[in-house]
Amino acid sequence: MSYFEKIQKTTLKEEPIIMAIETSCDETAVAIVKNGREILADEIISSATEHAKFGGVVPEIASRTHTTAILTATENALKSAKLTLDDIDAFAVTEGAGLLGALLVGVSFAKSLAFSLDKPLVPVSHIKGHISAAYLADKSLEPPFITILASGGHTAIVAVEDYYNINVLGSTIDDAVGEAFDKVARVLGLSYPGGPNVEKLAKDGQNVISLPKMLKNYDGGEYDFSYSGLKTAVINYVHTQESKGLEVKKEDVAASFQHSAIDVLIEKAIKAAEQFNYKTIAISGGVGANGYLREALKKAAESKGFKLILPEKRYCTDNAAMIGAEGYLQYKKRNFADLTLNAKAVVPLK
Ligand SMILES: Nc1ncnc2c1ncn2[C@@H]1O[C@H](COP(=O)(O)OP(=O)(O)OP(=O)(O)O)[C@@H](O)[C@H]1O
Ligand SMILES: [Mg+2]
Repeated sequence: MSYFEKIQKTTLKEEPIIMAIETSCDETAVAIVKNGREILADEIISSATEHAKFGGVVPEIASRTHTTAILTATENALKSAKLTLDDIDAFAVTEGAGLLGALLVGVSFAKSLAFSLDKPLVPVSHIKGHISAAYLADKSLEPPFITILASGGHTAIVAVEDYYNINVLGSTIDDAVGEAFDKVARVLGLSYPGGPNVEKLAKDGQNVISLPKMLKNYDGGEYDFSYSGLKTAVINYVHTQESKGLEVKKEDVAASFQHSAIDVLIEKAIKAAEQFNYKTIAISGGVGANGYLREALKKAAESKGFKLILPEKRYCTDNAAMIGAEGYLQYKKRNFADLTLNAKAVVPLK
């Protein structure tokens, strides 16, 4: 009997223990998650400092680092959960979206484990993973809820209708919000990764620089975003000031940009929750680690009586626990891959 024939006969565990592997970008992450909600181990080995020298992620360095780090991350995860590979019921892995060479390390590694142990291999979408981080933050959370998906590659207001169906109400028509943070960081001379450094600088600044309102005359979807104009306005402001020999107060630039970039996310999330009569709002993706977003959203949600789900900052940025949370849902549906599973640079958000 082939591997996949055996797997199709697998009896599902009531409370499965899933090892999750995430290597889509510059974090080599391995987690062990029980029942999709309880994190038994969560290891992250980041190669961010390697990339910082180059001002952004270098795909080949990311892939090579995954290759050397993945076994250590796996062993550390098993050790901290006090488990062995025999205790693992399934292997979930990010199949995309992300850097192909980086993803392939995780996919090949997960395949080898699943094959050698005759356990299911569960392919997971990185973005669905970000969204499912909410289930780790609140163990009793059930859909429906609205989530602000704000990451390095995505910006959207998403209605999570049930565990398996999401409705993207609107998304960015150009840059993602995290990308805008990273580009603004670069123009301000801050190192990679830009988002946290812009946030740090903004703490000493004020929202006093006037930046354009997003999508003022846009007649597309009301939940859409555009960050390219805002980013260009910041770059133009800095260059104009410099060419006139005027002072650029970087703290104020950071604070003004942060307000413009974040306020619109909050506004649209509240609007969506009101329009669709959802009671709960969550955040997902790396920008969800932004302190200003977390505080401002908390105030806005409280004032309107919405329940707020704020995953810990570590579970907003890339991690494997979120892949375990989403992997659990896919396991329950028996969404198992055979050994032809391949990495995908793009996975549609649906
Ligand atoms: N504190 C913060 N404030 C603002 N932005 C932040 C903060 N922390 C991280 N970010 C931004 O979040 C992004 C990284 O998030 P994430 O890891 O989810 O993105 P990604 O995996 O590269 O993209 P995607 O998940 O869309 O494929 C970066 O653009 C980073 O600058
Ligand atoms: Mg991500």
